[in-house]
Amino acid sequence: MNTPNDATSEVQRVFTTKEQTRKFYNKISRYYDMLAEASEHPMRERGLQVLAVQPGEKVLEVGYGTGGCLVELARAVGPAGKVFGIDLSEGMRQVAEEKLRAAAVAERVELVCGDALHLPYAEGSLDAVFMSFTLELFDTPEIPRVLAECKRVLRSGGRLGVVAVSKEGGEGVVLHLYEWSHEHFPNLVDCRPIFVQRSMEEAGWRIASAERKMMWVPVEIVVGIKA
Ligand SMILES: C[S@@+](CC[C@H](N)C(=O)[O-])C[C@H]1O[C@@H](n2cnc3c(N)ncnc32)[C@H](O)[C@@H]1O
Repeated sequence: MNTPNDATSEVQRVFTTKEQTRKFYNKISRYYDMLAEASEHPMRERGLQVLAVQPGEKVLEVGYGTGGCLVELARAVGPAGKVFGIDLSEGMRQVAEEKLRAAAVAERVELVCGDALHLPYAEGSLDAVFMSFTLELFDTPEIPRVLAECKRVLRSGGRLGVVAVSKEGGEGVVLHLYEWSHEHFPNLVDCRPIFVQRSMEEAGWRIASAERKMMWVPVEIVVGIKA
């Protein structure tokens, strides 16, 4: 049960099924960059910067979308490292693979299609996990489960970097309009603001850095460490 001030008490539920989500992202995979790149790019860049992936590391991106961050992660880990990615949508996988080939880093990256609630990676096998604009797509009771899966696959001391639309301190009209749109047009506005840092703290992450930035809605950029 939610206590009045826990990270899930005021967060809207998500009722779209995984199949609906998969079809939605398949449909928009070729247009996603056009729709979102301008606003989301600086947030993702900051997320990658604070996660500070190093040469030789093994890194997973959850919900890689069109693959822009996969390219940057592949460059950061270098030839001695490895990047893994999981995403529900085959359409996104195709677009991401094209981007990786064009950047000549495809051999460092292994992509799968699947639900991040069940990560197909061994316990303690990764150094870092990155997730941008994806955690807020999971239904409220699923958020601690995804965070637990990320923790399971990380080694001790491994880092999780999350960039997500935030409800923290958010009383603005735009945020309310966003939540209203999510409630009334859930197939179009599939995500909603969440409490990122608080969710991670409640899931047992030690917070290494946390910042809030303004897109057209607030965004939290948080790095947690697996103790
Ligand atoms: C809003 S997009 C963000 C993509 C990318 N991270 C970015 O910042 O551009 C969310 C992505 O998460 C994927 N996704 C949604 N639910 C998922 C799930 N349960 N497991 C894995 N991927 C999921 C979608 O297919 C989509 O590619």
